[in-house]
Amino acid sequence: MSIWQETHILLGVSGSVAAYKAAFLASRLTKEGARVTTVLTAAATRFVSPLTFQSLTAQPAYTDEALWGAEGHVLHVQLGRQADLMAVVPATAQTLSSLAHGRADNLLTLAALTLQGPLLLAPAMDAGMYEHPAVQANVETLRQRGAYFAGPTTGRMASGEHGLGRLLEPEELLGHIRYLLGRRGPLQGRRLLVTAGGTQEPIDPVRVITNKSSGKQGYALAQAALDMGAEVTLITTPTALAPPVGARLIHVRTAAEMRAAVLQACPQTDALLMAAAVADFTPARPAGHKIKKRDGLPHIDLAPAPDILAEVAALPDAQRPRVVIGFAAESRDLLANAAEKLRRKKLDLIVANDITAADAGFSVDTNRVTLLHADGRREPLPLMSKAQVAETVLARLLPLLSA
Ligand code: CTP
Repeated sequence: MSIWQETHILLGVSGSVAAYKAAFLASRLTKEGARVTTVLTAAATRFVSPLTFQSLTAQPAYTDEALWGAEGHVLHVQLGRQADLMAVVPATAQTLSSLAHGRADNLLTLAALTLQGPLLLAPAMDAGMYEHPAVQANVETLRQRGAYFAGPTTGRMASGEHGLGRLLEPEELLGHIRYLLGRRGPLQGRRLLVTAGGTQEPIDPVRVITNKSSGKQGYALAQAALDMGAEVTLITTPTALAPPVGARLIHVRTAAEMRAAVLQACPQTDALLMAAAVADFTPARPAGHKIKKRDGLPHIDLAPAPDILAEVAALPDAQRPRVVIGFAAESRDLLANAAEKLRRKKLDLIVANDITAADAGFSVDTNRVTLLHADGRREPLPLMSKAQVAETVLARLLPLLSA
């Protein structure tokens, strides 16, 4: 099940021109499947209308008027208690001050006082206000009280000035909300290491030997692990994918660089998920300068690349992650080859996928895999999105970690 299903977000909107971005966010959250209830301050309604939010979310959007309505005496309590998370987007200097001082002067601040779940604050303010010591003191108070700050970022502001105080973009805010929602998941406190993408082995300064891996399955695993509360390190080769918010990123290109990063991280890792497509061969002597056509067809000698999982298998127990999961992409004899790799690389689980299928494997968003367990069990999974494959793999990881 996606992290957004049956999730109730209370969206607080305060009065800044950036409030229009909160409407985009409300729309994105709703499309993901979350239930979004909005509370706007009086100042926010000068920039955007409650009707905008009501229409985008198909849920009520409240203003202070509701405080004096028939259900006013219970409304703020309900709003705070029913929310899985409250996000204040944008959070103005005024609203940050009210929240820091525990004021109960409007429906937004009242609801924040009854909130049981996490509080995310996305500041937006112009002309250097964010750096003012008074604002910074409020930020510090709220942070110490457990509030999570998403942004602000540096950039052009509505006044035309450039500086720190820009609201994050809706897509980034969505990532931060997702990260915060996951923090209480069952993998809380577990450190997971995920590798993703195809390595690039240099022939010369311009050319590389690489493979068709898009990194999608690895990124989906990192996201699913974050959704379940894990601390995630993602070792990735260059890809066009947006990294999941909250993952610690390590950028590598070659198999040798990935090997060094994996081995360094292993002693601090509870589980390694080796989704990267690592080169098996690498040019033995990469040319220092671009190979020129006029010199004729080059002859490229290859040397073996390090087998990272084989090296992890050989580590002493204290340095080896408790659980190691591998991936096998095969074009023939899928299960026999995968079973052999499971044994040879001392894996707890291997995810086998047939790369000849059009709806599975490289670049596409779906995958059809079979899970092979160390105890001999074979679990064929139906065609799924890579996100669902990731969720299933992590669901199998959970009992292995506590075994
Ligand atoms: N792998 C690795 N280091 C390599 C090659 C692969 O750690 N140099 C890992 C992959 O990340 C994957 C698993 O080993 O999790 C299986 O990868 P695959 O390329 O299918 O296996 P190989 O050992 O290269 O076997 P073969 O060449 O027979 O396919």
